[in-house]
Amino acid sequence: MNYTIALIKGDGIGPEIVTSAVRVLEKVGQKFGHRFAFSEYLMGGCAIDACGTPLPEETVQGCLASDSVLLGAVGGPKWDKNPAALRPEKGLLGIRAALGLYTNLRPAKLYPALSAECPLRADIVEKGFDLMIVRELTGGIYFGERGRRDGKYGPEAYDTEAYSVMEIERIARVAFEAAKKRNGRLVSIDKANVLETSRLWRETMHRIAAEYPEVALSDMLVDNAAMQLVRCPSQFDVIVTSNMFGDILSDEASQITGSIGLLPSASLGDGTRGLYEPIHGSAPDIAGQDKANPIATILSAAMMLRYSFSLSAEADCIEGAVDRVLASGLRTADLIGAGKETPLGCTAMTDAILAAI
Ligand code: IPM
Ligand code: MG
Repeated sequence: MNYTIALIKGDGIGPEIVTSAVRVLEKVGQKFGHRFAFSEYLMGGCAIDACGTPLPEETVQGCLASDSVLLGAVGGPKWDKNPAALRPEKGLLGIRAALGLYTNLRPAKLYPALSAECPLRADIVEKGFDLMIVRELTGGIYFGERGRRDGKYGPEAYDTEAYSVMEIERIARVAFEAAKKRNGRLVSIDKANVLETSRLWRETMHRIAAEYPEVALSDMLVDNAAMQLVRCPSQFDVIVTSNMFGDILSDEASQITGSIGLLPSASLGDGTRGLYEPIHGSAPDIAGQDKANPIATILSAAMMLRYSFSLSAEADCIEGAVDRVLASGLRTADLIGAGKETPLGCTAMTDAILAAI
């Protein structure tokens, strides 16, 4: 089969890690007889520099015309002081909205070979964990009304969180379907003891639960969830939560896998086109030095094959290669404790994964 893939390399380490994932896709294409045609588009800081906007219209149109999108990362100190409309992150939020990608899947599991990298206590590590965070991606406080105004005590700023029943229902169904295919346990995370949006969220989750008798739904407050993730991560199977809580909890989940450099993500809407990106940022401090860990982006490419193209054997092949490379002891710098053996760079780690494919 032939597939068209839009590449958004972005800023910082983005170009290096996307190049790694493209090499992996090409290798898998050769092995299984698929052709991937890539076109590159600008977004983020590089787009601000080249076109004066973080999300050029050409990028939106190019993504809409492609079967799927692979993204590196955006942002960096160069644009940190820019006004809101000219921030690299505005491009990322804009493309998620423009493509209607309301679901963000962020799997996090402990590789047995990386148990020494997990910062948790040995008895917790021993139980392992394998969870999937389903994060709502185009609503909530990220997209609510915001601004500055004169308040009671002088100038103030505000951001608002709003969720419609429709937005909660559609992410609920995605999460229940995911739980049905996994171990049938779904934890919905909210702050229903304080927030009205969370109370509507909880009500709606329970109403939709009636359609899924095979899934056991429970609720957890977000503060408790942050604690439970480090106290006993093995209790979780599928987690469903709002845009901002999902952003925060997925970074926490990445740390207990050993490194944020390992976690892929898939952003999906109603069709098969998705946007696949590592959950980590553009790491400007190590950009261009061949030090980045390409695994999160390579695993994001595997998610693309699985979710957008229904190529599960091909996705398994990439994930298996990553498993074997980690099991063989090869490590990038983010996965090595001080004083241990010399780490592999981005290119050498990619070479090792290609060899394992
Ligand atoms: C993420 C990132 C983004 C988000 C930022 C860069 C806007 O942290 O994908 O987790 O908050 O969604
Ligand atoms: Mg984040």
